[in-house]
Amino acid sequence: MDIAIIGSGYVGLVAAAAFAEIGHNVICVDNDVTKVDALNRGETLIHERFLPELLARHRGDRLRFTSCVDDAVRSSSVIFIAVGTPSAESGDADLSLVENVACSIAQTINSHKIIVEKSTVPVCTSQWIRRVMLQNGAPREMFDVVCNPEFLREGTAVTDFLYPHRIVIGADCASAAETLRKVYTPLLDGSYAKLTKAIPQPDNAVVPTRLIVTSAESAEVIKHASNAFLAMKISFINAVANVCEAVGADVEEVCKGMGSDARIGSEFLKPGIGYGGSCFPKDLTAFRSVSYDSGYDFRLLDEVCRINEEQRFRFLRKVRQALWNLKGKRLAVLGLAYKGGTDDIRESPAIAMVKLLLKEKCEIVAYDPAATERAKEIFRDGEVQFSHDLYDTATDADALLILTDWEEFAGMDLTRLGKAMKNQIVIDGRNLYRPETMIESGFTYYSIGRRERVPRKVVRRLNTAA
Ligand code: UGA
Repeated sequence: MDIAIIGSGYVGLVAAAAFAEIGHNVICVDNDVTKVDALNRGETLIHERFLPELLARHRGDRLRFTSCVDDAVRSSSVIFIAVGTPSAESGDADLSLVENVACSIAQTINSHKIIVEKSTVPVCTSQWIRRVMLQNGAPREMFDVVCNPEFLREGTAVTDFLYPHRIVIGADCASAAETLRKVYTPLLDGSYAKLTKAIPQPDNAVVPTRLIVTSAESAEVIKHASNAFLAMKISFINAVANVCEAVGADVEEVCKGMGSDARIGSEFLKPGIGYGGSCFPKDLTAFRSVSYDSGYDFRLLDEVCRINEEQRFRFLRKVRQALWNLKGKRLAVLGLAYKGGTDDIRESPAIAMVKLLLKEKCEIVAYDPAATERAKEIFRDGEVQFSHDLYDTATDADALLILTDWEEFAGMDLTRLGKAMKNQIVIDGRNLYRPETMIESGFTYYSIGRRERVPRKVVRRLNTAA
């Protein structure tokens, strides 16, 4: 099929590459000419596993990039809208980019088109898109609007897209739903996974995947409600972690016990310094706002956000508990991205932590395997020292803080680390280590939802000093 993707952000770019991978002709549009030029030159733009491979396979062949929406609209029968839907000041999603795209499509429409909402949008957006199309002169019989929410996660976006747990199509017209089903056929019949050159399946892949066809409104709510539920799970376990700390329980043991109940499940029960990223914070406020406007006061979502924000201040208290005065203390910070596997720093709790620590006048040396360049753009010159090597970061540090769950941070050479640091103190905001491992390596170890652990020789030294 001839497909247009409007928007080349994380969702748009991955969808474009993946649709080309499953056999479609794709034209991906972005009004940022620099981005389009970079994509045409062969750059990948984002740090995402398997994306470079897919772009190299299909760029210039089944996958083209342009800044001209009109060309893309004219040459495609299915048009995916994947532009940004940021938070407006009110908390509502700002849908002006979606509206602009709908206007452009209406003004260019030359044959029947299926317009697919791929961006995360509040319920009833498909009705608005339809209305805007009509107001801008598109004949009613020339288009259908479908909602096809995307559930990919950054870091595993390509495999999430090619091996999704479900495909949701929200359509009020059977023929449009059928066309969308055809778009996804290689994933729905399992034929893509059988190809020898297929991107490898992740362990928990559901092949073939299942199709869920709903009304457009239900599909829109499925997306917001799914993200809100996942965020709620994280805040729930963070709140439980706080209880664990207060009563001397171990949240990791609690997670194991809770998560093995299939009704609860073990995923998204990782406690830490809170969730971030371009989706959960924005989608929660948008869902809260659309619920309120429709007459339901969804206050549970306020509490989810409050617990999330509080995690940062609790973590700051841990740093104080470990170091007493913070002014002038040299802190090695591991992680700037909002989670491991991505270079994205939007709404990153790690960045928020660094900002809080800078306010306390700490000296920060930071290392992230992928997000450093992006992070450099948001700090003033010299405000933070950026390091390119994990162990250099730790040199002479008063404490080491783990703020992002990169795999590299979970497998550190603790002997080498300990030798580099001034004080062997690790404050782990992602629970990447077993406390026993840290103690055995001589570290005083603070983590989330578990007791502070101090090596015996340090306790002896402190007692002697007292
Ligand atoms: C999230 C959803 O997981 C996707 O299904 C959805 O498609 C996407 O938003 C979106 O709406 O576009 P993403 O933001 O890429 O995906 O990343 P997640 O893996 O969900 O992580 C979000 C945040 O929660 C990160 O800061 C992560 O560190 C944190 N998190 C996640 C926890 O603190 N604990 C957990 O157990 C899981």
